[in-house]
Amino acid sequence: MNKIINFQTPSIIFGMDTIHQVGIQAKKLGAKKVIFITGSNVQKNGYVDKIVAALEKEGIYIKVEFVSRNTPEPTTDIPEKLSEIAKKMEADLIIGMGGGSVLDVAKMTAALVTNPLKVRDYFGKEKLPNKCIPTIMIPTTAGTGSEVTKHAIFLDEENNVKKAVASSNILPSVAIIDPMTTVTCPPKVTADSGFDAFLHAAEPFVSKAANPLTDVIALKAISIITKWLGVAYADGENLEARYNMSLGCLLAGLVLNNSGTSLVHALAYPIGGEYHVPHGPSLSCLVNSCFEYIMIAKQDRFVEIAKAMGENTEGLSEREAANLALTAINDMLKKLNMPASLSDLNISDKSRVGRWAIDGYSEQRLLSRSARRLSVEDIEKIYINAF
Ligand SMILES: [Fe+2]
Repeated sequence: MNKIINFQTPSIIFGMDTIHQVGIQAKKLGAKKVIFITGSNVQKNGYVDKIVAALEKEGIYIKVEFVSRNTPEPTTDIPEKLSEIAKKMEADLIIGMGGGSVLDVAKMTAALVTNPLKVRDYFGKEKLPNKCIPTIMIPTTAGTGSEVTKHAIFLDEENNVKKAVASSNILPSVAIIDPMTTVTCPPKVTADSGFDAFLHAAEPFVSKAANPLTDVIALKAISIITKWLGVAYADGENLEARYNMSLGCLLAGLVLNNSGTSLVHALAYPIGGEYHVPHGPSLSCLVNSCFEYIMIAKQDRFVEIAKAMGENTEGLSEREAANLALTAINDMLKKLNMPASLSDLNISDKSRVGRWAIDGYSEQRLLSRSARRLSVEDIEKIYINAF
């Protein structure tokens, strides 16, 4: 109650074959010189030629830059180099197309055109002083939500830890979400990014940062993703599943951008950084121990999650019904072949827990939203319970 809500979102274009609108949208933003940042898969699937043609049709100059990386999260040097190219050619629009990492690189490139320091100097909350140049983001996976968020995640190679730039000044101008572009997404990436999106809805819903607007959107996202993620994983060419997953993940992205994630994402950062585990599994291996820890504070909300996941809670106590949310999540992970513990990821060295706990505790931007207070010792226990 009494929360002031400032709901932030880019302009959203959603629907089958909406990718063709990229030229019109670029023109609307007044673009004359564009850098198109993308990955090799996008080229393989024939989208690069389509984007170039759409922009040239509007009389806009376009330079294509491919991003390749050896770690699950991009390193900070990539947007730093790309922003130099952008400044030299006086680019007035950055278009990003690909998975979450490529979009994060594109967003940060746009930010470094108008902000003079290195990526590392902007890690944390609202550290970017100037608004980035205009951007259009086109996701090819359904999950990360990067196309509608003010976050960009990088591997800080100095400390081998993932770090986030979280600033309204990198919120994209336009997000074009075309479910057709996700059809070629392989099953494992579909599962990993789909579960990430599930948590972008579920985690804020049980955090202190929840608000009435994101609550409604989060429950709808949870319900859609629970229903369609398995179908999209099992049959990537099922267009109804891809459409609904793109929709569910868009909704989850809006929740992520306006309420933010918390405990699970914070504790996943050290695991992802140290073992180079992709984002989705780094979350799924911790979700049980994290949610068990905070359930006492938000039992009623876990009941809502269980209901949104289609569980029958009639005649159950609140505790029993809340536990059904965890049962349903574990069932989902099992069917998606995703790890539900650190042991499932073959991580067994408990001597590292102390260091992870210190690194996890430093993520106060996320932990300050946790429904239950956490000390370093509490975090150690959560990691131990995750083995
Ligand atoms: Fe995430």
